Parts: sequence; C-alpha cells; structure tokens
Amino acid sequence: MTARLPRRLAVLNAKGGTGKTTLAVQLAAALARRGPTRLGDLDPQGSASQWCATVTAWDVAQGERAWHADDVTHLVWDCPPSVEHPSALRALQQADAVLVPVLPSPLDLWASWRLVDVIQAERSRRPTLRAWLVINQLEPGSALSTAMHDALREFGLPALRAVVRRRAIYRTAALQGVSVYQLGPRAAAAVADIEAVIEEMQS
Ligand SMILES: Nc1ncnc2c1ncn2[C@@H]1O[C@H](COP(=O)(O)OP(=O)(O)OP(=O)(O)O)[C@@H](O)[C@H]1O
Ligand SMILES: [Mg+2]
Repeated sequence: MTARLPRRLAVLNAKGGTGKTTLAVQLAAALARRGPTRLGDLDPQGSASQWCATVTAWDVAQGERAWHADDVTHLVWDCPPSVEHPSALRALQQADAVLVPVLPSPLDLWASWRLVDVIQAERSRRPTLRAWLVINQLEPGSALSTAMHDALREFGLPALRAVVRRRAIYRTAALQGVSVYQLGPRAAAAVADIEAVIEEMQS
C-alpha cells in the first residue's frame, strides 16, 4: 500500500540541537518540489525563518500564518525543543505525521523517552497519526552501533531505515540561507539523504 506524503508534518523533539530545524528546512525544500509548501516556524527563536531569509521557492511563515495549510499542499512545522510548549502540542494534535530527529547515541535516544509517551497518547486518540524517529548526524560511511540498534528495538517508535548523515554541506546551506537542493553536485549525497526520508514516509 502506498501512503501519501503527509499534508501536515511536525518535526519534533523535546531535546535541543538534534536537527529539527535542519530537517524541517530540507524536507520543506524537498516537498516544495512536489507541490506548494509552507514551512511553519513555531520556534520562538525563529531559526528556520532566519535560515530561509533568501529562499523564495516555498513559503516560510511565523505566527498564526504558520498554521494555515488551506492554500498549500504540504505544511512542515519546525517545533520548539519542548513537548510542553503550546505550539509543539498544537502541532502534534494537528499533524498527519511526526518526525523525531535523534542523534545516533543511545543516551540521546533515552533523553527523548517522554516524547514517546506524549506521541503514543495522541496516537491512541487519533490512530491515523504516523510517527517515526529519524537518525540524524550519523558519520558518513559508518553504521549504527549495536547498542544503538538495541536501544531502537526497545524504543516505542519505529525508526526510518533512511538516515541523515553528518555532512558539512547542511551547515553550508544554513549559512547561505538555502536548501541542499540549491547547492549543485557537491550536495548530491545530502539530497539523496533527504529524498530517502521522503520516499520512506510515503511507502
Ligand atoms: N546532518 C547534519 N550534518 C551536519 N550538521 C548538522 C546536521 N544536522 C544538524 N546539524 C547542525 O547541528 C546543529 C543543530 O541542528 P539544528 O539547529 O537543526 O537542531 P535543532 O533541533 O533545531 O536545535 P534547537 O533545539 O536549538 O532548535 C546546527 O549547527 C546544524 O547546522
Ligand atoms: Mg531548531
């Protein structure tokens, strides 16, 4: 069965610095190639909006407009690093799918345990909600550790097979205010990472 790409995708983790903004921006860029897309910047820090200051291929919105999906096909939410934050909770309640970026270490994974409870509570209320972990910043060429595989098996959320590797080009993209899709052949491996995430979300 082929699932459709999420119309409303929340990129969420209670832990800071795991790659929410990076993935939200790159996934919005990937989705914008498929249909009109808005990136809703829900983090009061406004990192996504600053990043995308020069991007015109899709729409970046803060405030109430960040919630509007009526005029777009896809809406991606970059959430603040807290599940207690009202915007993060509202995004979880309105999303079709939730993506939780985690660093490839068991300690980092366990730090997100409470988030699993919150997501599972929402799924029991709304079984159509889809949710995955996505490993971010795995060293290029390296595999997940056995300890990480074991931790993932015990964790209450499935992990995408697709992983996003640690690549300097993601930082370059942030510094230049663009997505990896705009950086030509040197970003091909990063584009492949992001496309693999998109493909798996609709399989
Ligand atoms: N795959 C990656 N490869 C290289 N650097 C990355 C990758 N993902 C994220 N980073 C870098 O790691 C840092 C944290 O990423 P990011 O800002 O996306 O995390 P965040 O979860 O949004 O953080 P916060 O909780 O503060 O909002 C940034 O400097 C970003 O450029
Ligand atoms: Mg962020």
